[in-house]
Amino acid sequence: MVGRLADHPSSAPASAPASVGIFDSGVGGLSVVAAIHRLRPGLPLRYVADTAGFPYGERPPEEIAERSLAIGGRLIEAGARLLVVACNTASSAALEALRERFSVPVVGMEPPLKPAVERSRSGRVALLVTPATAEGARLARLHDSYAGDSRVLTIPMPGLADLVEGGEVSGPRVEALLGDALAELPSEGVDEVALGCTHYGFVRSALRALLGEGVELIDTAEPVARRVLQQLEEHAIAIAEDGDATVPCAVSGDPSAFEAATGRLRASGVTLPPLRVSRGVAA
Ligand code: DGL
Repeated sequence: MVGRLADHPSSAPASAPASVGIFDSGVGGLSVVAAIHRLRPGLPLRYVADTAGFPYGERPPEEIAERSLAIGGRLIEAGARLLVVACNTASSAALEALRERFSVPVVGMEPPLKPAVERSRSGRVALLVTPATAEGARLARLHDSYAGDSRVLTIPMPGLADLVEGGEVSGPRVEALLGDALAELPSEGVDEVALGCTHYGFVRSALRALLGEGVELIDTAEPVARRVLQQLEEHAIAIAEDGDATVPCAVSGDPSAFEAATGRLRASGVTLPPLRVSRGVAA
């Protein structure tokens, strides 16, 4: 296992400042951080990018679950009163285990198959996911519950999260990867494309250029952000807002590579809140 993480107890010391704890394998979950930040700029957030374990999408579910439990424990220790698994792959592999292990509410993500099917006029939708999410039981259950009579093309996108993780969201390599993976969509009559990986929202412009205006892209960062605020309210979790909008961001791999990638994302037009990056799993 690459960059093994030690497990940690789940109790937050009373002195730890309360926050919402969010994690992903890398930069992808920042789309959820940005969405929460847009809705509630003063809400203290704490982010973990498990880049030592990246890409989750090409790892076995047991390993992703083990890493997720370790990170969840560290975030709670650091004061998280609610966890957000800002990663479809980790939600697929570990959501139940996280909810069993920890007493704080855990908000996960799933590919937006339901809205895609509901909105499709052609009855043909595509789901872009990591290889691990494509093979997971959670996606099979989602399909059984919501696909109905629609034709659902589940398209694993190996390599796409890797480009985004390097901050590459446009240009020839992104276009070639998308062009190859999605070549059949127009002839299939697909009119809804559901983004089932938090990294993929960052290639929205490239997807839009490739697929044309008649195809709708559905991302879940915004709905998940709303769900987080709703859960805080439902569970009566009071987190004092502070004036400092900076998000502490712990990176398990190389923090400078992470900073370079977020710099490239910002330069390409992505809006992210200010981040304070350090090495670790819960800054
Ligand atoms: N961002 C993750 C997701 O939403 C996957 C990226 C990876 O493969 O690590 O599924």
